Amino acid sequence: MSALADLDIVRRDIPVGPLTTYKLGGPASFYAEVGSRDELDRVLGAWRQSQIPLLVLGRGSNLVVSDHGIDALVLRLTGSFNEVVQRPDGVWAGAAVRLPQLARAAVAAGRLGLEFYVGIPGSVGGAVRQNAGGHGRETKDVLIEVSILDGRLGEVEVKAAGELDLRYRHSSVAAHQVVLDALFAFEPGESEEGEARMREITRWRREYQPGGTLNAGSVFKNPPDDSAGRIIDSLGLKGLTVGDVSVSQKHANFFVAGPAATAADLYRLVDEVRGIVVAKTGVELETEIQFEGFS
Ligand code: EPU
Repeated sequence: MSALADLDIVRRDIPVGPLTTYKLGGPASFYAEVGSRDELDRVLGAWRQSQIPLLVLGRGSNLVVSDHGIDALVLRLTGSFNEVVQRPDGVWAGAAVRLPQLARAAVAAGRLGLEFYVGIPGSVGGAVRQNAGGHGRETKDVLIEVSILDGRLGEVEVKAAGELDLRYRHSSVAAHQVVLDALFAFEPGESEEGEARMREITRWRREYQPGGTLNAGSVFKNPPDDSAGRIIDSLGLKGLTVGDVSVSQKHANFFVAGPAATAADLYRLVDEVRGIVVAKTGVELETEIQFEGFS
């Protein structure tokens, strides 16, 4: 069995920032793009002999790596993991499929119910792992089953959605488990109806969220029965800035990075806002963005 450094598809010291929507942060000590099960098995076989963590990257729309980088194997699925198949029992998609692409493919086939994914810039694997949602629906509501490869054991298990402990922005999928593909439920319907719904979702997001900027969506999870954005806004924190990262003027739970921003700026702003919110309201906000390599 080869060591990670010996595999031709594994690269050293690759910047992770460009692979994320924030474009911030330093390098990963090991990085591999795998386009097939065979490649994935080879890389994971070598990873098992190492002592470093595994970090499966989706579209990088919810991840920030520290400026110093991380000592980990960052894995990105591509190639055969990008397939969508309209099966009789559901919409089947590889883990690397982008969620807007999934929504559009389903609607084009007259399969409705996945339109909410049109505005979520993540991947199928990321949606399962975080129970991604928006516009009144969550992955939990549409997921039938998932194939998961346990990186430690090298074995694949098919799990029903009900076995994944899917809750608000939460699942039981661990960091060493790689989602391979997922099967989604649908309701048959008219493509025009789905297209209209997708247009409305896109319009809504343009109106209320700072699209076209460097961000990773909501910074904090919403506390029970309230909205992190509403709370941060009510405390007058829009525009609060650390370095080159600011609380968005458009939506207070989006923090927008400028061209000179560092991951440390973002991390400090998150810490500052969290501190003000708990001091003034008693509410302890939990981050939705995954921060890696910060102490
Ligand atoms: N609000 C303010 N000021 C702000 C922002 C929001 O007063 O600056 C108020 C709004 O007026 C509204 C309430 O807060 O009354 C909730 O705001 P919004 O409708 O924008 O929803 P949200 O709770 O902030 C959630 C998800 C989003 C998802 C939208 C739409 C979370 C943490 N966020 O946002 O998901 O797009 O609903 O369904 O659950 C994400 O997870 O990255 C994400 C963008």
